[in-house]
Amino acid sequence: MEHTRIKQLLQSEEIGKEVIVKGWVRTFRNNQFIAINDGSTIHNIQAVVDFENTDETLLKRVTTGAALRVKGTLVASLGKGQRVEIKVTELSILGDSDPEKFPLQPKKHSLEFLREIAHLRFRTGTFNAIFKVRNALAFAVNKFFYDRDFVYMHTPIITGSDAEGAGEMFRVTTLDLSNPPKTETGEIDFKEDFFGKSTNLTVSGQLEGELAAMAFGNIYTFGPTFRAENSNTTRHLAEFWMIEPEMAFYELEDNMDLAEELLKYVINYALTACSDEIEFLRNRLLEEEKSKPQAERSELDLVEKLQFVVQNEFERVTYTDAVEILKRSKPNQKKQFKYLIEEWGADLQSEHERYLVEKHFKKPVILTDYPREIKSFYMKQNEPDASGRQTVRAMDILFPGIGEMVGGSQREENLEKLLTRMAEVGIPEEEMDWFLDTRRFGSAPHSGFGVGFERLVLFVTGMTNIRDVIPFPRTPKNAEF
Ligand code: 4AD
Ligand code: MG
Repeated sequence: MEHTRIKQLLQSEEIGKEVIVKGWVRTFRNNQFIAINDGSTIHNIQAVVDFENTDETLLKRVTTGAALRVKGTLVASLGKGQRVEIKVTELSILGDSDPEKFPLQPKKHSLEFLREIAHLRFRTGTFNAIFKVRNALAFAVNKFFYDRDFVYMHTPIITGSDAEGAGEMFRVTTLDLSNPPKTETGEIDFKEDFFGKSTNLTVSGQLEGELAAMAFGNIYTFGPTFRAENSNTTRHLAEFWMIEPEMAFYELEDNMDLAEELLKYVINYALTACSDEIEFLRNRLLEEEKSKPQAERSELDLVEKLQFVVQNEFERVTYTDAVEILKRSKPNQKKQFKYLIEEWGADLQSEHERYLVEKHFKKPVILTDYPREIKSFYMKQNEPDASGRQTVRAMDILFPGIGEMVGGSQREENLEKLLTRMAEVGIPEEEMDWFLDTRRFGSAPHSGFGVGFERLVLFVTGMTNIRDVIPFPRTPKNAEF
């Protein structure tokens, strides 16, 4: 390799050494100072050109976005905020960038504008930092599980299973839907399809994960999942990544312990591994905060917020107790909620979740034992309470500023109970034969959960729109590349 990466050079002590750098121009000041970035770090290296002895036409081509190669001597820098810089002896342009046409200017662009040019936004400091944090979090997830002897199981993307009930699915078919083969009763005949039945993109790897957990004990999946819900929110994507561990012989409490340990571990990992990037994002947020009225500014900065989560126990509270808290909060804070929780059994709206997490407990909250009717069929049923109310051993983890970060449960291991529940919600037994075998042969208590990876990245980067933490967001309006 001819060149050295900038991250390495910035840490180098070898003053006087001849070095070669290849990267892209961020700014060019006074016909003399080039800020070069090569993606290895959010920091630029400054290359100082001897402009009196450099060809003028060559200097004109040093424009924002151009790719170049610089050879020179590493010298101690007199400038603020940088230890070293390069005294250029050789400069060549590898790829021009027409300043009239290149959309990124050497100034701060809005996130909205950058979303419009998502194909170029990697080239900004903010997105460099965000995707470095995403990268470190993904590595930390794998390291956490590998170190604890969990098996990384790759579950299918195309599946015939549609039993999660998590949302609308994207259908996958090779049939010509403008002229599909029909059954005798006039419906589309998916038996004629390549897969011989109707298939979709997976909404979750859980059910396949359960099969593996009943052999390996502890497994996890970590891959893309798809929901065709048309929800244009800052927390939903049509394609998102999910981390789904599944553990044999784990009960709900073990499940909660593992989820809390995982989240703290990966956040702490990012704090250390990406200290530069998180510092950059923290300062970016502090800048943003300045434009807000004092009362709306957050008490903690990004780093303090992350450290707080790592250092404090999550609050654990049942759905039933949470509803009581929400009801009590009503009389003295009129119009606190658009949707009042009057009835036990209603699903919590995001405003309720925010109240619990941000106003009441002021920390991450694990909500457990939800009403059976609002949760998936596979969750383990509790004994009915004194007034006959039915709950399941579910757990959702709610985070400040994010809402639901994790959804999980202990699973119903009893075949009879599971079959009854499936019949009640209308899931045909014959379609789930493969899944039911886990309960027919050596059934055992087991549990698992799913972490929305982008929501985790949102929290750690302090960003507020989920479209800004996945390289190529798939939302109802976004699918160009
Ligand atoms: O709560 P969900 O739907 O749970 C499951 O899919 C279970 N099978 C998980 C399991 O037990 N193995 O989704 C889990 C998490 C949510 O808590 C949320 O963080 C995230 O996935 N999520 C989304 N993230 C982005 N966009 C969407 N449309 C999401 N839907 C869910
Ligand atoms: Mg959920």
